[in-house]
Amino acid sequence: MNHKRYFATAFAVSMIGALLAGLATTAQANDIALPEPLALRKIMQDLEKNMHLMADGIAREDWPLVEKIAPRIADHPQPPFIEKMRIMGFVGTHIGKYKAYDGSIYEHAQAVGKAAKSNDGHGAMLMFRKLQESCDNCHNEFQKSFVAHFYNSNDASARPTVGAKGAAP
Ligand code: HEC
Repeated sequence: MNHKRYFATAFAVSMIGALLAGLATTAQANDIALPEPLALRKIMQDLEKNMHLMADGIAREDWPLVEKIAPRIADHPQPPFIEKMRIMGFVGTHIGKYKAYDGSIYEHAQAVGKAAKSNDGHGAMLMFRKLQESCDNCHNEFQKSFVAHFYNSNDASARPTVGAKGAAP
């Protein structure tokens, strides 16, 4: 029982490490981004912070903490209306999928909170892993194209005005 729990904790910690490594790469790639960041980016950064707090709470079996963090992830803020329209315009016909990924964040974060409330470490761990998968699934499908479109593309709405190479006179 105990070694099982230890394994689960070690697994969670290694998952966080993998998540962090991936995010560091993303952050570096984004250093060259010129346009104003989307509000979505700040929302994502806060999600990441809360995921760390949650993982830490699970590792320490601090269930009241985990329960407190869960709604911060489940009910994370939405971008302002105008930005939402831009995002919807870009996502286009994939909007159903995009929203479903966001919905699974809600669902799994709530499930982690519920498990924590009943001191169910195994359940919390399981749901946390599903929650992480939801983050990854959406990133795998959308993050790259978002960054290309909203930060680095040649499309008029995101064209850098300073330091653009090879700009026509
Ligand atoms: C519905 C899709 C979706 C879901 C679900 C999602 N993300 Fe994101 N995430 C994005 C998009 C799109 C970007 C790119 C935003 C940008 O660069 O402005 C992003 C970027 C990020 C970034 C990089 C921010 C930066 O500084 O460049 C982090 C960190 C992040 N997400 C964390 C998370 C975490 C943690 C979760 C799960 C709790 C999550 N995301 C769930 C769509 C999603």
